[in-house]
Amino acid sequence: MKSDELFALLRRRGVLWPSAEIYGGAQGLYDYGPLGTALKRRIEDTWSAWFLGLSEDYHLIEPAEILPEAVVRASGHLENFTDPEVSCDSCHAVFRADTLLETVRPEGVDGLSAARIGTILAESSISCPSCGKRSLSVPRPFNMMFGLDFGVTGDERVYLQPETAQGSYLAFARMWDVGRHALPLGIAVIGRAYRNEIAPRQVLFRMRAFTQAELQIFFDPAAFPVPFDSVRQEELPVLRVPARERGQESPERVSAEKLVESGLPEFYVYHMVQSYRFYRDVLKYPADAIRLFEKSDAERAFYNRIQFDVEVHLESLGGYKELGAVHYRGDYDLTRHGQGSTKDLSVTAKDGHRVLPHVLELTFGVDRNLWALADTHLVRDGDRSVWKLPPYLAPVALGVFPLLRKEHTAYARALTAELARDGISVEFDDAGTIGKRYARMDEAGTPYCVTVDGGTVASEGAERGTVTVRLRDTKAQERVARNDLASRIRSSLQPPRPSG
Ligand code: GAP
Repeated sequence: MKSDELFALLRRRGVLWPSAEIYGGAQGLYDYGPLGTALKRRIEDTWSAWFLGLSEDYHLIEPAEILPEAVVRASGHLENFTDPEVSCDSCHAVFRADTLLETVRPEGVDGLSAARIGTILAESSISCPSCGKRSLSVPRPFNMMFGLDFGVTGDERVYLQPETAQGSYLAFARMWDVGRHALPLGIAVIGRAYRNEIAPRQVLFRMRAFTQAELQIFFDPAAFPVPFDSVRQEELPVLRVPARERGQESPERVSAEKLVESGLPEFYVYHMVQSYRFYRDVLKYPADAIRLFEKSDAERAFYNRIQFDVEVHLESLGGYKELGAVHYRGDYDLTRHGQGSTKDLSVTAKDGHRVLPHVLELTFGVDRNLWALADTHLVRDGDRSVWKLPPYLAPVALGVFPLLRKEHTAYARALTAELARDGISVEFDDAGTIGKRYARMDEAGTPYCVTVDGGTVASEGAERGTVTVRLRDTKAQERVARNDLASRIRSSLQPPRPSG
């Protein structure tokens, strides 16, 4: 589906819509409705089950979203978290310089400095997209953080967090004190990040407020033991820098073992595999739509030593799009915060030596993945749409329908209440024909529908106390005892956990 069509469908179903819609919308901000909110929660729970399942020493915390200026100065965001902007001297419209340049530079602009972008822009004589005049300024860095006045006097400067990672770094010393005093230690945060994007676009892809799920793993660079044998043979779809420089776009399948032989650390490749398995086996993106895209020295974020972005090919956005990444940040963060806070953030490892932990970051954009799950799993079936979400991601697990309003409603309502008490997300629906109700549930991604009919409520007979269960993906129907329903579906609603 094209982006506009997909957005229209999601809006019509109340999954999401532009914030402040009645005022014409606010650029880069979206609200989630009931289905969107439930789906987002499920994505977050599924992410937690997988990534916190990697170790008993990985924990979820909830830090404040507002950062004092000293924090973002130390983290480097005050100085480096910029995008190049240009403005029109004639109509005063403002644009992202790199985005403008992309329109005339098919090879892209990744890695180009603001100065280089300015030179190429000037040479290419691009006109202002707004007024058409050739009066664009030279690019200048634009800091993407939202600054706020803090406190009653308003003379203290604070910032909305541009990434959730900072909360984990600030919490490291406290978490070390309250924990087992052992590395690796994982600190995860699921929360909002705020960026004043110059050009918000592509719905959930470039937002100004969005949710990240990020796990920071603090480890001793001298030893980060991982069960590498359990992933050694796994083949990963990687697009390495040299292949990119030759103009290649599709990934090559390379085993984890070969990636380590090429110089990547074992701990890094192990986590690439676990991340890849999450996207392929848990979120169930088609394996041939995923690629792990290596960023070059010039392209990497300022804090990274190794960076592979996880990209999925999306029809709605016409190409591969970044949904998450595996970042080796080295000792950048604890060094900078050690200097900024003048606290010693090194710790004593089990064998007694002092070590400043390094950080491996597994980052994941919740909103982008929500969109990608719609792009890849919402399929057309004739004139209907079916959202083939895995059951543990479905906003509503089960629909309950009375076949006839008069005769079967009381029973169906009681069943709905009972399943809800059992912890199953269930929705009662008695509007329209059974076919219409199936269609509504299919579009919302509900994997199971049950119908209460004459057999169910009969005072005797083989079907007494049984309901018809219909499966979304195969449309197969089966008669199941009401009392067995919850136990039959419960295991499919549990998000998978990693095994090796
Ligand atoms: N802590 C590392 C970090 O923030 P990033 O690549 O800037 O790295 C991580 O962001 C993830 O957050 C991205 O892979 C993407 O999924 C999501 N993300 C980043 N900017 C976004 C935006 N403007 N709108 C929606 N999601 C965004």
